[in-house]
Order: sequence, then structure tokens, then C-alpha cells
Amino acid sequence: MKILVTGGLGFIGSHTVVELQNEGYEVVIIDDCSNSSEKVLEGITTITGKTPLFEKIDLKEKSKVEDFFKRHADVQGVIHFAASKAVGESVEKPLLYYENNIGTLVYLLKELVAKNKASFIFSSSCTVYGQADEMPITESAPVKQAESPYGNTKQMGEEIIADTCKVNANLNAIALRYFNPMGAHPSVQIGELPIGVPQNLVPFITQTGAGLREQLSVFGDDYPTSDGTCVRDYIYVVDLAKAHVLALKRLLEGKNSDNYEVFNVGTGKGSTVLEVIKSFEKVSGKKLNYKIVDRRAGDITTAYADTTKANEVLGWKSQYSLDEAMKSAWNWEQKIRG
Ligand code: UD1
Repeated sequence: MKILVTGGLGFIGSHTVVELQNEGYEVVIIDDCSNSSEKVLEGITTITGKTPLFEKIDLKEKSKVEDFFKRHADVQGVIHFAASKAVGESVEKPLLYYENNIGTLVYLLKELVAKNKASFIFSSSCTVYGQADEMPITESAPVKQAESPYGNTKQMGEEIIADTCKVNANLNAIALRYFNPMGAHPSVQIGELPIGVPQNLVPFITQTGAGLREQLSVFGDDYPTSDGTCVRDYIYVVDLAKAHVLALKRLLEGKNSDNYEVFNVGTGKGSTVLEVIKSFEKVSGKKLNYKIVDRRAGDITTAYADTTKANEVLGWKSQYSLDEAMKSAWNWEQKIRG
């Protein structure tokens, strides 16, 4: 069964390609390599013993998307990761984000609704909840006004898919709302490859540990949390990848109860920034150089998932602890610096 993975050379995409191939799916990747490298294919091949098909296509080129679906008429499912994801950049360049994340989604959906039957998995984010009023966050928590154009593309993306599903019974879709993905494959063949200075906490920590950055700035210790730093739900990327395979299977096997569904993907456990630092220090045996600085604009205080729906309906549960995920992130950092 042929599955298209857009952005399949990226961080979460590459881990998902591995899990799909391990389950026997035939994978074709589309990636424009704007934030990834063709070398990732080698890592996927080493892990799975199989090289996925790969086409370097920019999804903004509509004619190329149309041509792709003509040549691969046997694609039965699409997992759509390809998107821009830097929150700060999205504020500076909103139109780039709307074109990259919304325009391309529309082109893909146009192809899928023209098929007899199609399954579609969308990368959404817990960012759609903003600062939720209650913890843990369930899927029925209200979607709040987006803090950035990036966040808005996730909200709008979900709405576009929901609207399209309403009038196209042949299209089945699931949006997965990720909490904070981290870590690398246990084989250390694939992992996160941030370009430039990482914006996210875990790669910044591992780069600081590796001596690439001098010091981690902890953004605020005056939040109303156990130690004053923000709380997030850090989910191991391999666990997250497996959630995609289960979601896809649900659609391919026609087990979905609605043709548009939403699931949180997190661990259900919140960790503060200082706890994440402690985890790094524990698994690496190194002291991390960090200092407390002012809050970062736009940060919410606390977000962690209620994962009951994914547990019960998808039969998915996160397996790895924060320490295990951190260890994999550290092993990966050492490998790419080594
Ligand atoms: C961020 C995005 C979110 C996106 C997600 C994708 C923002 C405001 N939000 O989430 O929309 O879906 O990435 O991965 O950018 N921290 C530090 N020092 C650092 C970096 C982070 O203290 O150098 C803290 C942050 O204040 C936060 C936590 O670490 O409390 C996690 O930050 P980050 O990894 O950037 O993720 P989010 O902000 O949760």
C-alpha cells in the first residue's frame, strides 16, 4: 500500500517513514529540502533496510503536485508534514507562512477529493489551544485566538480539512495535535537537525551541552508553576511517529467514527524547564550552563495533554520517559558533532 509522506525528510517525518516501512507500507516522500537534507534517506535506509522513493518537489508548484498524483495514482494515504514551523519567522513573514502552509494544503486536498477514497493525516499542534483554562487539555478544549501566523496556519489548516471532509465523504482525515516532540531514533541514524540557532528547548540544551552554545537562557522563573518555569508535555518522536501509523491504519481500515477526527498526542505528563534541564544533566552526566532571563513573549504557562482519546480510540500510548527521550537526543547530538 503506497503512502505519500510530505516533509518526509524532516524531524517527525523521517521517524514516521521508518515506522511506516517497518509496518510494510511502501513510502514515497515529497520534500523540498528547504529545512532538511537528502542525506536523511541514508539513515532511513540503514534502519529499515529499504530506501523510500523520494521526489524533490516544492508543493507550492501546483502543476508539479498534479503531475505527481497522475504518476502515483495508487497513493492511498497521505501524511502531510511539509510546513514552515518557526514561530518568530512567521510573525515577520506572514504571507510566506500562509502560502507555504495553507496554499500547499489546498493543492493536496484538491488531489485527494478527486480520488474514490483517500486517507489524510495532518500535523497539527497543541498551539491551537493557546493557554487552555483546564489541565490536562482534552480535544474538546476551545481553540483560542492564535498567537502567531504559524499557529494560525495550524488552526486554519484544521478548519479547511473539516470543511472539505463535510462535503467529501470519500475523504477521511485525522488531525494530530502534537505537544512538544523531542529525541532521536534509538539507532542514532536520524534525529533533529535544526538550522542555525535552535528555537526549541531540547536542541538548545543538547547543543549547549555539546559546547556549540555557551549558555541556555531559561525564559522566566516567575510563572505560577511548581518551580516558576513553564510546563510542557515532551513527547518522544518515535512514540509520536507510531501515533501516525495507528491513525493512518484507522482510516485505511475504515474504523473511524467520523470522516474528520482530532487527537492529542502527548504523554499526559507536564515537565518544567528546570526538570528538563535536570533530565539532561542526569543522562549526560554534565552540568548545563544556564541562566534565568526574562519571559519570552507569547509563551504560555502550562500545557499538557489529556491522552485518553488517543489511548482508547487509537490504542496508542507513549512508551518512553523524558529521561529516555533525552538520552536519545543527547546520543544524537554527540553523533552529529562527533
Ligand atoms: C513552540 C511554539 C509552538 C510550536 C512548538 C513546535 C512558541 C511560542 N511556540 O512551542 O507554537 O508548536 O514550538 O515545537 O515558540 N525555553 C527556554 N529557553 C529556550 C527555549 C525554550 O526556556 O532557549 C522554554 C520556553 O519558554 C518553553 C519551553 O522551554 O517554556 C519549551 O519551549 P519550545 O521548545 O520553544 O516549545 P513551545 O514554546 O512549547
